[in-house]
Amino acid sequence: MSRVAVVIDGLLVQAEPDWTVLEAARSAGVEIPTLCHHERTGTEGICRLCMVEVAGRMEPACATRVRPGMVVNTRGAAVEQLRRTVLELVALETNVEYDDELSGWMEEYGADPTRWGEPLAGRRQRKPLADNPFFVREYDKCYNCRRCLDACGEGIQGVWALAFTGRGAEAGVTTTFDLELAEAGCIFCGNCVEVCPTGALVPLEELRAAKGGPS
Ligand code: SF4
Ligand code: SF4
Ligand code: FES
Repeated sequence: MSRVAVVIDGLLVQAEPDWTVLEAARSAGVEIPTLCHHERTGTEGICRLCMVEVAGRMEPACATRVRPGMVVNTRGAAVEQLRRTVLELVALETNVEYDDELSGWMEEYGADPTRWGEPLAGRRQRKPLADNPFFVREYDKCYNCRRCLDACGEGIQGVWALAFTGRGAEAGVTTTFDLELAEAGCIFCGNCVEVCPTGALVPLEELRAAKGGPS
């Protein structure tokens, strides 16, 4: 199939017809920050961090297919303002200080969560869940990107041990009926840990090594 010509930040890009704007941008070396997108999961359009401007409208780069003649701007005042706000809201709801990449974006976009008031309780106060011999779930560091849910269910493993519950700052990942992972059907494949972008799912081996104990 013939390629699709699009212009991204002034660069002419010949994209494959099934590419997203994100894929086209990356093929041209244009970086767009992402949270929910992962090449092994079907998560897209959730976090809104990858928004770009297309003909005066904001569209999520990870969930928008290339169209012939498309002109995309990945920077500019409106895009940057939107990304700044998304980052601020993430930081209000989540303990982000452990995430160097996100902290770097916050600096780059001048994000200041304090302009919205005090950090929200809810997810930030969730206690670590150590209910299995393989990994700990530290949901106070979770961005609700849902990569783990997709990896566990439809996207990779087909187990559906994880579930999403609650609203607003209380919304978050859990298991069906809040069961312990094994009871919820987890087979400890590790796919959720592998796709988690934040360190919210931590292999016990890593924790032991960090504390200088036996692995
Ligand atoms: S480790 Fe368990 S919860 Fe994680 S993806 Fe595999 S089956 Fe699902
Ligand atoms: S635990 Fe990780 S992968 Fe799952 S929603 Fe939270 S940040 Fe995303
Ligand atoms: S990375 Fe595109 S919406 Fe999350």
